[in-house]
Amino acid sequence: MTHKISRLKGRRALDGPVLVITGAGLSADSGLQTFRGAGGLWRNYNPLTLATPEAFARNPHLVWEWYQWRRAEATKATPNPGHLALARFASNKTECLIVTQNVDNLHERAGTPEGQLVHVHGDLFLNRCTRCSYVDRECTSSVDLPPRCPRCEDALLRPGVVWFGESLDSKVIERVEDFVCRSECGLVLVVGTTACFAYIIDWALRAKRSGGLLVEINPEETELSEAADIAYRERARDVLPELLGL
Ligand code: APR
Repeated sequence: MTHKISRLKGRRALDGPVLVITGAGLSADSGLQTFRGAGGLWRNYNPLTLATPEAFARNPHLVWEWYQWRRAEATKATPNPGHLALARFASNKTECLIVTQNVDNLHERAGTPEGQLVHVHGDLFLNRCTRCSYVDRECTSSVDLPPRCPRCEDALLRPGVVWFGESLDSKVIERVEDFVCRSECGLVLVVGTTACFAYIIDWALRAKRSGGLLVEINPEETELSEAADIAYRERARDVLPELLGL
């Protein structure tokens, strides 16, 4: 156990601001499928028929059924020791920002402070109108799919996630940019992601350039592995509690 902590402590890594980037691999230990790994969602489903605005326009019922299923899966899941370790770490360190690509709510359910968590790909449990700014967290019953906006009455509601081909919310980008630009990070933790999006790689590398030790936790190599100072080819739930000295 000790080798993990000593390697971080030696480098003051835990003293400075900490940027954490998480992906589906963190929730894999809670029983949720990843996207691209073995048995991943995109191995079984075609994202172009389920996770694009065009797919929704073509067949909103099918898309909604699929997100209802993902909501049920995420509701059944519980936070694992990886989520819990990150939540406790962030609660004790205000200069820590957790940037998650996950749309499940396991970070929140683990107790991660709201002010230190950014969902860059949206939220599975949010419904938003396809026309007006209406948003809610109502559980949509399967019979009334696709649900309609109660405010404009005929426009469809859609799941509050970011689909392929859509831009990230500018407020979200601003939050992460603000942290990355003003922090001389001590540590950049990249957990359970293939890092297949340019903005994820960019944020991690800029935080590293600001002085952060880049630590990757992933059983497999990723787009960021070459830049990693330390890589743990292990499961997040087994490494994070030890690494964060909890
Ligand atoms: N612990 C740590 N990492 C793990 C574990 C585990 N227990 N199990 C799997 N992994 C790793 C895999 O090796 C893989 O590199 O997690 C990564 C999961 O990668 P993806 O499935 O590509 O998920 P992610 O990187 O989060 O995808 C990014 O793509 O499909 C879109 O919007 C979706 O947010 C998602 C985004």
